[in-house]
Amino acid sequence: MGAYLKTVSPETMLAEGRGVRVRDTGGRWLLDARSGLWNVTLGYDHPGIKEAIRRQLDTLPYANLIGYGRPSALSMEAAEALLPHLPSHLNKIRYCSNGSQAVETAVLLSRFLHRAQGAPERNTVFGMWRGFHGLGAGGGALTGIPYVHHQAGPLLPDVMHAPGPFEAHGDGQASDLERLMTDFGPERVSAVVVEPVVGEGGHVLTREYLTSLAQFCRTHGIHLIVDEVTTGMGRTGAFTRSGQLDLRPDMLTLGKGLTSGYAPLSAVVLSDEVYQAVRGLPYDQQFFIGSTNDGHPLSLAASMAVVEALTTEGILENVRARGAELERRLTSVVKRHPQVTSVRGTGLMYAIESDEPDLLRLAMEARGVLVSTLAKWPLVISSDEIEEIVVAVDQALGDVAEFAS
Ligand SMILES: Cc1ncc(COP(=O)(O)O)c(C=O)c1O
Repeated sequence: MGAYLKTVSPETMLAEGRGVRVRDTGGRWLLDARSGLWNVTLGYDHPGIKEAIRRQLDTLPYANLIGYGRPSALSMEAAEALLPHLPSHLNKIRYCSNGSQAVETAVLLSRFLHRAQGAPERNTVFGMWRGFHGLGAGGGALTGIPYVHHQAGPLLPDVMHAPGPFEAHGDGQASDLERLMTDFGPERVSAVVVEPVVGEGGHVLTREYLTSLAQFCRTHGIHLIVDEVTTGMGRTGAFTRSGQLDLRPDMLTLGKGLTSGYAPLSAVVLSDEVYQAVRGLPYDQQFFIGSTNDGHPLSLAASMAVVEALTTEGILENVRARGAELERRLTSVVKRHPQVTSVRGTGLMYAIESDEPDLLRLAMEARGVLVSTLAKWPLVISSDEIEEIVVAVDQALGDVAEFAS
């Protein structure tokens, strides 16, 4: 936090957004190739989302999902609009407020269900090293980044991590996750949480890896939770990566692009099997969880406008076309820069691996393009804007090499 604050100057705060660009308080317009915090997927001035929020403000600005049995009618409408675009076995949605909370809700629901079904020893949850699922005590516990655990842990107990397939053996090789769960005792595992594309590094988990993991989980009665907070809502060129790969997770989480970042919202989507298991429990054994702003009506209205946009504005097609273009151009440009060791990703989610990620990020910023250590390009980006980014990558890599020599 201290280091971060030191980098904020009065001229670099953001003041305005238009399309895929933001203006800072110093008056400089920058191309936001990180889409806010990977969430402003449809750009900063999408008319349909703005109008939907305005209308909802005049109709019902607040209702809640957790108390007194009077949720907004809009929560049903929003779920009904979204569900047809998700894998068909997933058919119940619980809206939450942010991504970490969605992951935490899914994990606690998994533990709750095993306990309610007479298996309290099934309490351990597995995540993947380098996986990201939030920074709090629940989502952060699943996050496989050591400093998140060291800074103020211990976080949620009974959480373990395994190396991803990209770590020990290279993509598509034998699964350490399955091996570790086998050694640990699968009958003591409640759930596994994975991102289908690991956001911190852009590693794309293969269909084979994920299908094998899903099969392992099914065989051993473990819930498979696929965290699509980043990959969901269009980023990989489909509504969900799970749908794109024909995966059948027990629970799937969404967030970020669910409202294109215009209002906070996330969701846990349940398979029919999980939902029926919860529903079948006696009245005095219910899963009680939630927070005041879960399923906030302004956010739900935004989410319906996003679903409408994704289905009517050619956005998924744009992601696939621009993604292919981006991969081709990046792969070609980095050949000139030996310090880049890898380009990887899918859809509009690409990473460049270099020894100097922070320097490169700052050099890109100096060239007028905002990126995070992993870039998440706006889904509405055009060919010209892709070219603008690729040229900035090329120039910034040159700047970094010059600086280092
Ligand atoms: C895959 C994934 N899961 C969960 C989260 C946490 O979401 P939030 O920051 O909304 O709590 C993130 C945030 O970057 C994420 O990328």
